[in-house]
Amino acid sequence: MSFRVRSQRAPARAVALGAAVVAAGTLAAIVGCTDSGSPAGPSTPGASIHEYPPVPFGSPPGASALARSAAAALGRGVNLGNMLEAPTEGAWGVTVTPDIIDQVAAAGFQSVRLPVRWSNHAEANAPFTIDPAFLARVDTVVDALLGRGLTVVLNMHHYRQLDGDALDYGEVAVPTGVVDVRFVRLWEQVATHFRAHGTGLLFELYNEPHGRLDSTAWNVLAARALGAVRRTNPTRVVVIGPTSWNWAGALSALKLPNDAHLVATIHNYAPFAFTHQGAEWVSPRLPTGVTCCDPAQVAEMTGPLKVARPWADAVGYPIFVGEFGAYSTAPTASRVAFNRHMRDSMEVLGMPWHYWEFAAGFGVYDPVARTFRAELLASLLGPPAP
Ligand code: BGC
Repeated sequence: MSFRVRSQRAPARAVALGAAVVAAGTLAAIVGCTDSGSPAGPSTPGASIHEYPPVPFGSPPGASALARSAAAALGRGVNLGNMLEAPTEGAWGVTVTPDIIDQVAAAGFQSVRLPVRWSNHAEANAPFTIDPAFLARVDTVVDALLGRGLTVVLNMHHYRQLDGDALDYGEVAVPTGVVDVRFVRLWEQVATHFRAHGTGLLFELYNEPHGRLDSTAWNVLAARALGAVRRTNPTRVVVIGPTSWNWAGALSALKLPNDAHLVATIHNYAPFAFTHQGAEWVSPRLPTGVTCCDPAQVAEMTGPLKVARPWADAVGYPIFVGEFGAYSTAPTASRVAFNRHMRDSMEVLGMPWHYWEFAAGFGVYDPVARTFRAELLASLLGPPAP
């Protein structure tokens, strides 16, 4: 159910911004190449997907102590969303400022998930070099977060063509034939850059794979990207989630690579009619005025968690919830109730979590008043309900 509804949403933000949407793949139709090569030719490093064989997958050995302690360190966290995963930082109204980093740490969050749209800051063709200024910018943010004692999950977010989605306003299509190898090559560069960072930094391969990334495609591509990461980061803890927007129902089709330094993740926006009411990027727009949380809604929100827990136990890896939250168009008291139920349910099941998100449409923080929304913050970090 969750998958069906999530998959109906329109390409995020292009709709919200009323912007022109550039059809992904237009250029590819002209270039007409495949993922076995690129217009740059096979002699260009990173031009062919065959340079990146997948780590064997399907018989994962179970998590290392390192992966388990990294997952435990995530604790209670928050996404710095709509910042570095906008087409360019600031395009969606919020940026990562030192003040925000201070506030996250001072509030008592233990970790941050940092969504980053690497795909809009790299060359279209091999060797797909990431803009050094953007890499330096992300590096500055990562270091500032780690410097405040926060564990950081650095991800790749909204590489629209990877899912076969239309582009957002402000993006330029790359040849479809290089989309997958470019993904792996982006990871190779990110991993190389951050290779010397400590264990407080985790990499998450991709946010909410869906669309053209069905389970068969994603299992192989994730294993290729992991192989690229492992060239320079043999023990970096890497996070992998299932397809269908990181839906718990797709965990059964996720084949983890045979690697011990992994942590699994899911997202949970059930009940979607509550969490996404009035959201501009969901089509058709869901009616507002939906409250939370009656017993049927509680069952809907906890159902995926109860699928994820035994899956993770069986496969032998920790699992956390990388996104949950309710949009600001939902009634505040219900958002508070939703957060409480989710937090309690996740923690009873031993799952660390990241609230979506800090200072935009779901924001626990008001960036104009520069204060936390007290009820929302208490629902996440306050004392347990009496
Ligand atoms: C997307 C956001 C979206 C959120 C809730 C996230 O995974 O990246 O753009 O606002 O889900 O729908």
